[in-house]
Amino acid sequence: MAKLWGGRFSGKTDPLMERFNESIHFDRRMFKADIQGSQAYVKALQLKDILTAEEATTLDKGLQQVCNEWEQDQFEIKNGDEDIHTANERRLGELVGSVAGKLHTGRSRNDQVATDMRLWLRDAARELVTFTRELVQVTVDRAEQEIDVLLPGYTHLQRAQPIRWSHFLLSYAWLWQQDAERLEQIIDRFNYLPLGSGALAGNPFQVDREFLAQTLGFRGVIENSLLAVSDRDFVSEFLFWASLTMVHISRFAEDLIIYSSSEFGYVALADAYSTGSSLMPQKKNPDSLELLRGKAGRVFGQMSGFLMTVKGLPSTYNKDLQEDKEPMFDAFDTLHGSLQIMARVIATMTVHADRMKASLSPDMLATDLAEYLVRKGVPFRETHHISGAAVRMAEERRVPLNTLSLTDLKSLHPSFEADVQDVWNYERSIDNRASIGGTSKPTVLQQITHLREWLTKA
Ligand code: ARG
Repeated sequence: MAKLWGGRFSGKTDPLMERFNESIHFDRRMFKADIQGSQAYVKALQLKDILTAEEATTLDKGLQQVCNEWEQDQFEIKNGDEDIHTANERRLGELVGSVAGKLHTGRSRNDQVATDMRLWLRDAARELVTFTRELVQVTVDRAEQEIDVLLPGYTHLQRAQPIRWSHFLLSYAWLWQQDAERLEQIIDRFNYLPLGSGALAGNPFQVDREFLAQTLGFRGVIENSLLAVSDRDFVSEFLFWASLTMVHISRFAEDLIIYSSSEFGYVALADAYSTGSSLMPQKKNPDSLELLRGKAGRVFGQMSGFLMTVKGLPSTYNKDLQEDKEPMFDAFDTLHGSLQIMARVIATMTVHADRMKASLSPDMLATDLAEYLVRKGVPFRETHHISGAAVRMAEERRVPLNTLSLTDLKSLHPSFEADVQDVWNYERSIDNRASIGGTSKPTVLQQITHLREWLTKA
């Protein structure tokens, strides 16, 4: 098979180099985008009378047939099909004859590949926006159903203050809401057209790039041809988005792994997302969550690897850029699976409210004890010490904090009165935190309302 670029060559390509150079085994994923770009380009060439109406129709139909062959899994990749662009053009030639040779007029694979990738990623990313929104949805649903479930809140993984389980769930729902918005913003930012930039210097046939942009659904054209063929910021931004979203998924996975251990027992994963041990019959392992945590590392690797690839490139297109597609595809595939698995794990896990409640302990109300004195007019910095002394007293006597008598407490500060008993109430502690963003029932319900409003927006 003669190479599209073979004219100036007399020597043969080393077969090993052939394999090293090809990208068809992965960039075939973009077959549809490649056809779409070519079909639009046919129209643009026709508008400039480079193609007759008849030639344009022939090419358009031929391209459609190539597309159908891919879709029906009938496209035969041949030796020498270097990438999706050369493969499609080769096949087009077989179908429509020499007029196929007019398609590439003024076009380069450099503006072509940049266009294909943006088209492909635009669709792919929109699918991920949908999955991310669904993740927010299941988390919010669960938060609403379990609004009255209380659990210990942690800092440093040490018991800190009682909170609502829903408040904890929603802290992740908000992250995923941001992730969905961020991806939409990234799509808007990269949805500009490279096609019509040629190899680097621009298109010599004055093709109407605004027309191309409109036909292909771009917001506009990239205004500098050198930039258009070399800009892969959209890949970098997508990889960063994928990384950050995996940070959120991975942290939640880690929380659930801890909470599903026997020592905590706050949640139990559905069998559908757990696996057993080949040796220990009693085991039920949270493999889904461990994979989510593990795959985060994989995505970060794709991101940092790709940044290494681009950081030293001289201006415009360099073949290094062929290394942009596998990280993009891999990150897409990883997120495609992870977002759905995360959502299903959340939707199906069992929550053991009794275990959460049993893990609450009166010392978690030490802050409330200090706040009690604040309400009696004692400065907080003093009350912190007084409550600390009460904690120490209880610890020395090996009794729960709430069993200290009023006399004990009065020995620490005269402002303690009989109503100090009201402090030892977890619900009360939680519902006291009623400023916006707090864990009280009304403020958690408010979050649910706001997230639901966001979810109903298109
Ligand atoms: N397969 C190539 C890539 O993925 C297409 C562009 C090739 N351009 C070139 N001048 N060799 O980047």
